[in-house]
Amino acid sequence: MQKTHGKILLVGFGPGAAEHMTLRARAAIEESDVVIGYSTYIKLVKELLDGKEVIRKGMTEEIDRCIEAWEQARQGKTVALISSGDIGVYGMAGPTYEILLQSGWTPESDIQVEIIPGATALNAAASLVGAPLTHDFCAISLSDLLTPWPRIARRLEAAARGDFVVALYNPKSGRRTKQIVEAQRILLQYRNPATPVAVVKSAYRKRQDILRVRLDEMSQCDIGMLSTVLIGNSDSYWQAGLMITPRGYHNKYQDLTGELHAGERAGRSLSLGLEGWPTALKEFLDANPEADLQSAANRFDLPLGALLTALTSRTGDSLESGYQVQSANRTQLSTLLEQYRAGGKLGITLGCHSALSTRISLDGTALQIDAGQLLLDFEESRIQLDLSKVESVWSVSNGKQEQSLHLLDRHENSLLQLSRKLAD
Ligand SMILES: C[S@@+](CC[C@H](N)C(=O)[O-])C[C@H]1O[C@@H](n2cnc3c(N)ncnc32)[C@H](O)[C@@H]1O
Repeated sequence: MQKTHGKILLVGFGPGAAEHMTLRARAAIEESDVVIGYSTYIKLVKELLDGKEVIRKGMTEEIDRCIEAWEQARQGKTVALISSGDIGVYGMAGPTYEILLQSGWTPESDIQVEIIPGATALNAAASLVGAPLTHDFCAISLSDLLTPWPRIARRLEAAARGDFVVALYNPKSGRRTKQIVEAQRILLQYRNPATPVAVVKSAYRKRQDILRVRLDEMSQCDIGMLSTVLIGNSDSYWQAGLMITPRGYHNKYQDLTGELHAGERAGRSLSLGLEGWPTALKEFLDANPEADLQSAANRFDLPLGALLTALTSRTGDSLESGYQVQSANRTQLSTLLEQYRAGGKLGITLGCHSALSTRISLDGTALQIDAGQLLLDFEESRIQLDLSKVESVWSVSNGKQEQSLHLLDRHENSLLQLSRKLAD
C-alpha cells in the first residue's frame, strides 16, 4: 500500500567496502522504495537493491538527483539518496536541503528528511596509512568547478600557515591537472619539502592503492578523481611505513611514559598554554632587552596585537625590561596624536613585515589629521593612513624614556607606529 508521507534518507555509505557501511546506512537503503545515486555509488551497493526502483545519474547531475528525490518523496515514497563517505562532506546533503528549503519545505513538513552519517574519505585514507590525523587537521577540496580558485588558494595558504594536517579532496581529474601543482607550491612556502604525504586511491575498494611520498614529490604522483591526499604537519613523520602525527606528549613529557619536562604539570595546560605563554613572552623580553615588540611578535609568530594583549593580561608579573602597555580607545586617538605632534622628533615605523620595516624620523609638526586621514608630509613625500582602518590603538612605554603609539588593523597587525622620547 502506498504511504501518504514520503521520506528522504540522505545516506553516506562509507568509503566503499560493505563492512565499513554502518548498520543504519544499510537499513536505510533496505527500507527505501527508490535509490538515487551516481552510477559508481549504485554499483557499490548493488547487493542491497533487489526489488527497488534505481535511478542512476551522472556526475554533473547533482541538482537533478535532489529534485528527483523531492518529487519521489512527494508521491509518498521513501527515497534514499546515496553518496560515498559521508553525504554531508562535499556531498548531496547541502544541495538537497537547499532545494527543499527553496521549494517551501520545512523540518515540520510531512516529508521527513534524515541524514545517515558515514566514514568520510579522510577517515578511510588515514586508517590505511597510520595515524596522520591525531592533531588539528582540515579538508580542502581542489575542485574549482564551483569555488573560485583565489578562495581555494587562500584556504591552502591559511592551512599551511596554521600548520594543519591537510586532507585534499578532489585533488586532480582528467581536466583539472594544474591545481595539485599549485597546491604543492603554496604549501611548500610554509612546509618542509620532506613533509610526509600519503596519496590514497580508492580506499577500501577493489583498486585501492597507496603512495607514501614527500611534499616536494606530491604533484608528480599518480593522483586521480578517486584519490585523497593527506599532508602531514610540521611534526608528522613516516616510520615503518606509517604516517604519524604526534599528539603533543613530547611538549610535556621526556618520552611517552616518562618524566615531565621542567615547569610542566600533569593534567594542566602547558607552560606555553593560554595562561602561561604571556609569562614566556615577558621572560623573552626581559632576556632580550634589545628586542622590540615587533620582533617578539615575529618570534612567537603572532600578530602584534596578541602580544600587546598578553602584556596587559597579567598585572602580577612586572617586566624587568619596563614595558608598560595600555589599550586606548578610538576616541582618545586624536588627543594622543596631538601629544605626539607637539612632542618634537618622531620615529615612524611602517607596516609589520618581519623581513622589511621602514623607519623614518620626522618633526612632530609633519603629522596632520585631515578628513579621517593621518598624514605625514615631508620634503616631497607623503605617508597617508586611512584612520577608519585602525581597529585598535595601544600606548606603550618601554622604560627607556621612550613612548610609542601603535595603530593596528582588524587582524591585530601594525599599520603604523609613532615613537617619541620622553623628557627627562
Ligand atoms: C565529491 S567528494 C565526495 C566525498 C565523500 N562524500 C566523502 O565523504 O568521502 C569526492 C572525493 O572524495 C574522495 N574520495 C571519495 N571516496 C574515496 C575513496 N574510497 N578513496 C579515496 N578517496 C576518496 C576523493 O578525493 C574524491 O575526489
